[in-house]
Amino acid sequence: NPGGSLYDRIGPDALAALVDRFYALVARDPLLSPIFPADLTLTAEKQLAFLTGFLGGPPLYHERFGHPRLRARHLPFPITPERAQAWLACMKAALRDTPGVAPDDARELYAALARVATHMVNAPSGVA
Ligand code: HEM
Repeated sequence: NPGGSLYDRIGPDALAALVDRFYALVARDPLLSPIFPADLTLTAEKQLAFLTGFLGGPPLYHERFGHPRLRARHLPFPITPERAQAWLACMKAALRDTPGVAPDDARELYAALARVATHMVNAPSGVA
């Protein structure tokens, strides 16, 4: 459905595959892995629920966990500009490696996430 939401165009299966691929990359990123839990199962579930609503699908995150308050939830973790770039690089690679996400949809999704990632930065360059 080219006229629907980004969620409609990408679909639940490709979105789930994207999130799995993304956290596999996060787990081996030297800047990101130290601030994430060793077991990323619940993190990935929450991210899939969040992105489903964020992209115009059912509001699964809100239903299960309440208002996301994303910036506040990220404050316990030092998110430097370098970590935001690393997060986005993992997402770009995951988008490239996920069959079923059309290039135009990948670009639109990436641009939306880049805005959110910039907003999550809460620590200056170089903070461990
Ligand atoms: C949770 C890091 C950007 C959405 C987390 C957690 C970390 C983290 C360490 C906690 C994981 C856990 O305890 O399970 C980062 C870093 C980012 C970033 C370094 C770089 C800018 C984003 C963006 C989004 C996002 C752009 C939205 C698209 C979430 C969600 C959760 C989460 C939904 C789960 C919140 C919850 O516990 O309910 N992130 N994040 N993050 N992040 Fe991010």
